[in-house]
Amino acid sequence: MNIRDENVLRELNLFPLWVRRGTPVPGEAAAAAPVAADQAQADAAIADGSALRQTESSPIASLDWPELKRQVHDCTACKLRAGCTQTVFGVGDEKGDWLFVGEGPGADEDAQGEPFVGQAGKLLDSMLAAIRLKRGDNVYIANIVKCRPPDNRTPEPDEIATCLPYLQRQVALIKPKLIVALGKTAATALLGRDATLGSLRGTVHEYQGVPLIVTYHPAYLLRSPAEKAKAWQDLCFAVQRMSE
Ligand code: URA
Repeated sequence: MNIRDENVLRELNLFPLWVRRGTPVPGEAAAAAPVAADQAQADAAIADGSALRQTESSPIASLDWPELKRQVHDCTACKLRAGCTQTVFGVGDEKGDWLFVGEGPGADEDAQGEPFVGQAGKLLDSMLAAIRLKRGDNVYIANIVKCRPPDNRTPEPDEIATCLPYLQRQVALIKPKLIVALGKTAATALLGRDATLGSLRGTVHEYQGVPLIVTYHPAYLLRSPAEKAKAWQDLCFAVQRMSE
């Protein structure tokens, strides 16, 4: 293990560690296991309670990348656009095997036009590094909604339903091998049902025919660092699924 690896694992509260046999990591025979990983079900990180509708097919479903980007850029279809600086389309490898989906842009993302560039984004980058992934390299990062909700509130069901066709098209164009839903909002929007995050972890779900796993949102992990071990479990689970 080199110094950089150590730093990544320290960030995830996972150093020092034991190594569990048989958990493959890209480019490595075995990955590290979480320290004292707790199997208890997580409580709902983000209380929501709304039943989110799955979006029906729309004209967006036939757009190519340039036209999709243009339409997102010009979109005023819901009330979020009036309150944000710019739309945040998504970033990364448009042919990536991995698609990470967050909730929606925050203040930093709204200012820079790129997902996960603030503190939560730094943690996401560390989570990626922990499984030998890097933003933009076989990885695409997007959000459920493309515009920053006011005061970083949770996007409302109508805003999600309006914006979801854009993500659906991104998924269809990228054709990822695995989607990682970051947090309850992303998970419930993609799965079309309301459930606790804890109950959704550890299972391979499906979205548009693509395997999907669920883990904690990095912003939640910043507030609840003790849960990072569970997120590490989820990442190991994702790597294992990807290697099958
Ligand atoms: N949180 C998200 O869900 N997405 C971002 O892009 C940034 C923070």
